[in-house]
Parts: sequence; structure tokens; C-alpha cells
Amino acid sequence: MIFNLVRPWAIISGGGRGLGKALCLHFAQAGFNIFTFGRDSAALEGLKTALTQNHVDCLVLRCDLSQAADVDLLCAKIKQLDQPQVLIHNAAERCQSFAQDLSLKALQNAWTVGVGAPVQITQTVLPEFMKHGSGCVVFVGSVFGLIGAAEHAGYAAVKFAQNGLAQSMGYEFREKGYPIRVYAFNPGGMNTRMHGPVTRDTLTTEAIAERIFKLCQEQYPWIPSGDSVAYVSQQWRGRLWFELRMLRRRLRSLCYQLIH
Ligand SMILES: NC(=O)c1ccc[n+]([C@@H]2O[C@H](COP(=O)([O-])OP(=O)(O)OC[C@H]3O[C@@H](n4cnc5c(N)ncnc54)[C@H](OP(=O)(O)O)[C@@H]3O)[C@@H](O)[C@H]2O)c1
Repeated sequence: MIFNLVRPWAIISGGGRGLGKALCLHFAQAGFNIFTFGRDSAALEGLKTALTQNHVDCLVLRCDLSQAADVDLLCAKIKQLDQPQVLIHNAAERCQSFAQDLSLKALQNAWTVGVGAPVQITQTVLPEFMKHGSGCVVFVGSVFGLIGAAEHAGYAAVKFAQNGLAQSMGYEFREKGYPIRVYAFNPGGMNTRMHGPVTRDTLTTEAIAERIFKLCQEQYPWIPSGDSVAYVSQQWRGRLWFELRMLRRRLRSLCYQLIH
């Protein structure tokens, strides 16, 4: 709930479609002003029309995050926002191929969109968060950022890096006593343009948006800044299967350390 008379801003990358759009709608319904950006101006304008029905301000910007000049312009716009409170790095390039066919250009592009640009944007927002005494940064990772997958080497490399970034930033800010929380949120399959139709155990973008919203609102106080969380399945069995797989890895690593 927002008690402040000034509506805070949620800055969300890639709001034109998919999860980004669901996030913008969710935060707008909760009373946040929205600043979102992507390459598809028509999709962003459509979203803006939908959002203004919630009586919040909505700014959209055509911005290709792989282009340095676009990101510089974006950062200049971000500096003009009054009271940003949430920053969600949602935009991502697909970068899907067998590792041996992986194009370095595609990898570089995905890296810039998923890692380089988010670092620059976070550095821009940081002083504003500090000025207002609070802020939350979320990297939308993926289950493939916790467990690699065949045909996803490039994508997984970026998603693992996002988890590393979120954890390192989160710990660093905690150590420095900054009032800023950082998380990586790793969803399972959703039916969006990214991976095409996911036929088994599909998560809805609305359900993921709601979980990310709650994370930003500190509704899970046992999750400290710097943690990576996953939500991979609608069913508890799927979630348990995933966590056991992660645990099996940790146990193998523990055995290795104990034996050597
Ligand atoms: N779909 C899944 O199964 C799945 C599973 C786990 C995690 N995720 C993650 O969820 C997040 C959202 O993906 P989605 O499923 O909603 O996919 P999506 O529908 O394809 O949306 C991707 C978004 O990223 C933006 N984007 C991509 N390249 C960009 C660039 N160079 N510059 C600016 N914006 C760019 C797109 O905007 P424009 O097209 O307007 O540029 C679009 O809004 C991603 O981080 C993805 O890795 C997805």
C-alpha cells in the first residue's frame, strides 16, 4: 500500500509484451507510475493507453538496449523521474542455439541487453534510490540461470550472469548499509514470444508479475537482499522436483569437497 502523496515510479524494461506487460499492468493497478521501454513503439503506445485507465502516469520510450546511444538517452530520462522506487530488468534476447553453433554476435547482443545495459541503468537509478531512502531492483532471470539446458548455452550464460550480478549487488548494498534490495527472480516456462508455446506446466505472466510485485513489497521478509529465488511450476510436485535437483547438485559438490 502506498501512503506517500507522490506516486513512486516503477521502471520496467520490455513492457510492450509478455511478462513485461503483465508487470506494468500489475504495478500500475497498485498505484505506481510506470516508465517502460523497448524496441516496438506500437506495442508500447498500446500499453500506455491501457495503463492510463489506472489514473497513473506512464512514460514509454523506444529504446534498443543493445545500442549504447539508446541506453545513454534512456538513462538521461530516468534521471528526470521523481521518486523511482522499483527497477525491474525484464527485457531479454532469446539467443537459443546449440553451443557449437552459437554466434558470438548474438551472444554479445544478449549480454548487452541482459547484463551491460542493466548495470548502467542500475548505476543511474542508485543515487535516486539513496536520495529517497528505499529501492528495489529485480533481475528477471530464468530457471536456465540456475540449471543449464541443451540448446540454451548463450541464454543460460546471460541468465547465470544476472543471478551473479543480483547476488553480488545485493550483498554489497547490504554490507554498505544501503536501503536497497536486489533479487534475481527465476521463472519457469511461460507462453510468450520468447520461447514460443510452452505446452507443459505453463506459468501465467500475471502469476509471475504478482510474485515479483510481492517480492518488491517485502512480503517475503525471510528472503534477504542478494537472494535468487525460483518459481518454476504451478504444481508443488514440479517445484519440489526442481529443488531436489538443485539439492542433488549441492550434495555432489559437498561429497567432492569432503573426499578430496
Ligand atoms: N517465456 C519464458 O518461458 C521465460 C521463462 C523464464 C524466464 N523468462 C524471462 O522473462 C523475461 C520476459 O520474457 P518474455 O517471456 O515476456 O518474452 P517476450 O515476450 O519475448 O518479451 C521480451 C521483452 O524484451 C524486450 N527486448 C528484447 N530485446 C530488447 C532490446 N534489444 N532492447 C529493448 N528491449 C528488448 C522486448 O521488447 P521489444 O520487442 O519491444 O524490443 C520484450 O518486451 C525475460 O527476461 C526472459 O528471459 C521467460
